[in-house]
Parts: sequence; structure tokens; C-alpha cells
Amino acid sequence: MAKDTLTITDNRTGKSYECPIQSGTIRAMDLRQIRTSDDDFGLMTYDPGFTNTASCQSQITFIDGEKGILQYRGYPIEELAEKSTFLAVAYLLLDGELPSESELEEWRSEIVQHTMVHENIKHFMDEFHHDAHPMGILLSTVGALSTFYPDARDLSDPVNRRLQIVRLIAKMPTLASFAYRHRMGMPYSYPDNSLSYTGNFLSMMFKMAEPQYEVNPVLEQALDLLFILHADHEQNCSTNAMRSVASSKTDPFSAAAAAIAALYGPLHGGANEAVLRMLTEIGSPAGIPDFMARVKSGKARLMGFGHRVYKNYDPRARIIKEMSDRVFEVTGRNPMLDLALELEEIALKDDYFVKRKLYPNVDFYSGLIYQSMGIPVDMFSVLFAIGRTVGWLAQWEEMLLDSEQKIARPRQIYTGQQFRHLD
Ligand code: ACO
Repeated sequence: MAKDTLTITDNRTGKSYECPIQSGTIRAMDLRQIRTSDDDFGLMTYDPGFTNTASCQSQITFIDGEKGILQYRGYPIEELAEKSTFLAVAYLLLDGELPSESELEEWRSEIVQHTMVHENIKHFMDEFHHDAHPMGILLSTVGALSTFYPDARDLSDPVNRRLQIVRLIAKMPTLASFAYRHRMGMPYSYPDNSLSYTGNFLSMMFKMAEPQYEVNPVLEQALDLLFILHADHEQNCSTNAMRSVASSKTDPFSAAAAAIAALYGPLHGGANEAVLRMLTEIGSPAGIPDFMARVKSGKARLMGFGHRVYKNYDPRARIIKEMSDRVFEVTGRNPMLDLALELEEIALKDDYFVKRKLYPNVDFYSGLIYQSMGIPVDMFSVLFAIGRTVGWLAQWEEMLLDSEQKIARPRQIYTGQQFRHLD
């Protein structure tokens, strides 16, 4: 008998089946042959939330959740965080290799040519309510890009796909900053293409009447690093939404709008916003015991803690925590930091969290940094979306080129009534 197989005995029939094992998985369709009779549909797996189901083969991001390892295209996140830039990492995620100096310069100038958005986008942004959540504005305007670029529907041409990728990466900071300025009642600020990708974003966010915005290099580097840390995270909720929606062969802007919608939720990208709201609610170290009691009785969640994949310290959280000192030297220490540190210390010693392997994730500290930079809480997940757009697009193209992929269409176990009749 071959070694890499699984033998399954169906105790309902006494029959045995042999399924090949490849890369630690069996093919779900191999179970379909397991039937009790000819008219039996065949065995399926039941896996709400895809907790144990691989939906694709991917070469982009590797995570070992038990060991707390994260790699982009084989490079440790720690090295990329220390030595690379967001645009170089974007190139890496999309193309598989880090760019040479000349390739990076070419890539940067490609991006820079597409930072502007059609004036009509500005006009319809104006129509959002004054206090509209910027994430809602972002997801609508990214979806609307599909109406400005109908050529994006041609998915078969690699040059055309590349153009849409460049367009979206280039326009995300512009749309994000416009959403912020609308929220603040400030005039939109146009891109300054003499600045870096991240410097230009800071300029579009905060430029007032000065001829050129002076970017603080520490904050620019910190934000660039945060974009790197958020750039991809294999098959997370929003990436799964991107792949799933795009599997119907819709255009990438519509699929990215769906990914942004998934990221918006408090269990995913909305968690950094939820952490800040939670810290505000706890108020001071004196409020921690009460809050912890609520968490342990299931009435609240410690936001920024826990992860589907990491059962160890999220390596991104460690990098952010280390970088926060440099930011606070410029901005002044965020008064919430001490509360967050104390909360972390208490949680990491508490049996409830130890038993469930709940550690701080990327969102536990990122919000504190954003807040210190003067970015309002409801912009946090928008910043996450800027970084993650690269991952969505890399995963999108990988999916399109994967001949095994089909339209995403899960099965269900029907539990309702059947064959009823109207009298
Ligand atoms: N606070 C308290 N308890 C928690 C937390 C938390 N943050 N996270 C998980 N648990 C508990 C659950 O109640 C559950 O306990 P039980 O076994 O007694 O029922 C157990 O730990 C397992 O949790 P699940 O919800 O089953 O884990 P899952 O993998 O489905 O969820 C998730 C992962 C959504 C990230 C969860 O840990 C969570 O809600 N965390 C808070 C929100 C957050 O920080 N999200 C950001 C994730 S990172 C990102 O998306 C960028």
C-alpha cells in the first residue's frame, strides 16, 4: 500500500476507501465516492469559517502560527521590516522577487503616474454625509473605479491586469486621504509625486496651505513599516473575500471593494479601531479587573488579542511594539500605551488567555501609533486597507493563473423543511 494515503472505513457500510495525501491534505472531492447507496450524494466535509480547509495552493505568504513565523515569498517579516520599503515589498509580493534599484525606480514611477483620480470621484465623495465612516466611503469609491475603468474586465491579458494592479495601488492613498478630508470638512489635497508613496499619503492627509508638506521622516518610515506589516497575510477573511468574489471573473476593483467590506468588520481590520474604543472604555488600570471579568464571562472580547492562525505572539505585534518608542519620541507618548502594556501583561499571565493561546495580534498596538500621528480612530482600518491592497492583488492574480481554481461555491447542509405544499 502506498504510504502517502489515508484509509477510511465507513462503518455504515463496512467499505474502505483509500485517499491520497498531498501536502498534508486530502482532496475533499475524494470523499464524494463514500456513499451508503447509489442515490446517496456522497460524503462532504462540514467546516463553518474554513477552520481546517485549504482553499488554494499559494506561493505568496507563509505563516507558522504555532511558532509565530511570517514570511513574504520566503523572506522573514522582521528582515523586510528592517531593510525594505513598502513599494519594494509590494513588488516582491506581486512578482516573487525583490526589485533591483533600477526595477524599484521604474516601479515607483509607474505607480506615481496613476496617483490621480477622476474629478467625478471627488464629486460623488462630496455627496456622502459629513460623518460618513471613511471605510464606507473607501469601499464605495474603490467599487466605483470599475465604472471608470471598464477595460479592467479583460482578465486574460497580463499587461492589462498589471495596469489595474498599478492603478489600484497608486490610487488607494488618494482615495483614503480624500475620505479623511471629506470627514474633516477639508478640501481634498492632490498627490505630490515628488514624495515617497507613504510621504505622499501623509501630505494628502495633512497638507494645509503650505506650498509643500514637510514629511517627518520618522513618521514616514513608521507608516511605511506599518504598510509592510499589513501587506499580506495569506487566506484571511478579506483576502478570501477578494478571491471568492473574483472567482466569478468580476473586475479587480469590484472584488477589492468586497475585500474592503470584509476588512471593515471588528473581528478583522476593524479590530484596531475597536482596541482604541476598548481602551477608552476601560479608562485606567483600575478598570482592568472589571473588564477582564466581562471578557472571561463571555460578555466582551479583548480586542487585538487572539488569531485564527497565530497561537503564539503575532510577529507583527512585536515589531510594532518595538517601533512605537521611535514614534512616541516625535509625537509624545500615547497616554493609552501604559494601559495597553498593563492589559497585555495581565492577559498573558491569565489562565483564560494562556489556555486558549491568545496573544496580542497586529491590531493591539497599531492603533496607538496611528492615534499618536493624529489619525482619527475611524481611519485606522482605511490605513490597513492601503497596505493590504497589495496582498489582495497578488492573491487575485495568483488565483486567476491557477488552473485548479473554480468559481467559489461552497456546499451546505440543508436543515429546513422540504416538499411542502400550499393548500
Ligand atoms: N478575547 C476573549 N476571548 C477570546 C478572544 C478575545 N480576543 N479571541 C478568542 N477568544 C476565545 C473564544 O471565546 C473561544 O473561547 P471558547 O473556546 O471558550 O469558546 C476561544 O478563544 C477560541 O476563539 P474563536 O473565536 O473560536 O477563535 P477564532 O479563530 O474563530 O477567532 C479571532 C479569531 C476572530 C481573531 C478572535 O480571536 C477575536 O475575535 N479576536 C478579537 C478581534 C481581533 O483582534 N481581531 C483581529 C484579528 S487580526 C486581523 O484580522 C488583522
